[in-house]
Amino acid sequence: MTAMISDLMRQVTDPASRHDPYPLYARLRENRVNLLADGGYALGRYEDVAGLLHDPRISSDPHNLSGPVPELPRDAAPFIQRDPPDHDRLRAIATRYFGPPVSPGMVSGLEPEIRRLVDSLAGSLPRSGEADLVDHFAYPLPVSVICGLLGVPRDDEPKFRAWTESMVKGLDAQEQDGADELARQADQGRAAMAGYIGNLVTRHRQHPDGSMLSQLANDNAADAMTDVELIATGLLLLIAGHETTVNLTANGILTLLRNPWALDRLRGEPGWVVPLVEELLRFEPPVQYLPRRVARTDIEIAGTTIPKGARVVLLLAAASRDPERFPHPDRFDPDRADNQHLGFGGGIHYCFGAPLARLEAQHELVTFARRFTNPRLAADPPPYRPSPVLRGPIHLPVTYGKLLPG
Ligand code: HEM
Repeated sequence: MTAMISDLMRQVTDPASRHDPYPLYARLRENRVNLLADGGYALGRYEDVAGLLHDPRISSDPHNLSGPVPELPRDAAPFIQRDPPDHDRLRAIATRYFGPPVSPGMVSGLEPEIRRLVDSLAGSLPRSGEADLVDHFAYPLPVSVICGLLGVPRDDEPKFRAWTESMVKGLDAQEQDGADELARQADQGRAAMAGYIGNLVTRHRQHPDGSMLSQLANDNAADAMTDVELIATGLLLLIAGHETTVNLTANGILTLLRNPWALDRLRGEPGWVVPLVEELLRFEPPVQYLPRRVARTDIEIAGTTIPKGARVVLLLAAASRDPERFPHPDRFDPDRADNQHLGFGGGIHYCFGAPLARLEAQHELVTFARRFTNPRLAADPPPYRPSPVLRGPIHLPVTYGKLLPG
């Protein structure tokens, strides 16, 4: 049996849906499998998405797609686009320098610096009036943190911002008009960024500084990354490290302002930020879907055969609002029990930076609740970033009475 072709994913990518794609996801969940106009398949039920995240018949490597071979050779692709055993080897090497055994306490050791940065960002805002809490609060923190951690000069941000933007636009090119042009620009952005990281690697070999890139560049272990692998990893960490966390914080501030009871409670009970951030990852996830998994073999689901080589879209945000899995899924409820959301994905590609992302967002939201009196949204909905995949406000103008001291 073949599913009917659905144009709902096209509607999801339409900028007009960006402020509220959830009704479209509800419709996508009506079918277990949705056949898309380009021959891809989209799934949105929790059981199916969670199952396929852990299913070895599903690949993350675009070279397994039927059709033209991707321009980027497999060896130059970051480990998020690789399958075992290469994925596992590269992720394991990167993990050594992000935590135990080589760098235990890496993330928890960053906490004082994160606290200092958050306070200084808040302190640089006007004492009262209005501020854009994306440009001046949510965005600069993860950029500074990932730059410091990796060993990337913070002042180079304007340079890599443009390359990152073109790469992010290429993520969901399939569903959009001008897909080929978007993909070409994404390749150009990636090449420029790779050249930039390559130069940094050379510098870190001449002047090691203990940063993650420096340690990876001077790794003499038998299984050390090649230069091409190292560049792909640096690029992945730099982008993944900031393009997502900004949206978690911005979606968080937006959700708190739409739910003043939650903001009040957080003010009095800062420790509540822990379940609150988990609920945000379910309710307004910064990564809405994984647009480019591939079936390695024919996969049958509920009478539909997804053929070998087909693109598979895993709708994380739809699955995290599946009423079969979460009671009252459209209700923002940080106290809900058993909140196994898919905000950080699942299986072997489960988010590498989750502990860091959580820590950054928790500090930002607690500081926001503590230091701003009478905050209000100046625009609801706010304007959104273009990407339907990495979704969040591009600006978040907020008015407030007073900025309290840190
Ligand atoms: C709120 C912030 C974040 C969210 C929502 C998020 C979400 C995700 C998701 C959904 C995946 C799975 C992708 C897939 O299966 O294809 C992923 C993977 C990944 N994330 Fe994050 N991420 C966040 C922050 C970070 C940070 C701060 C870093 C870096 C320090 C990071 C590094 C990575 C890497 C390297 C992968 C690939 C893992 C692999 O392929 O094994 N992420 N992330």
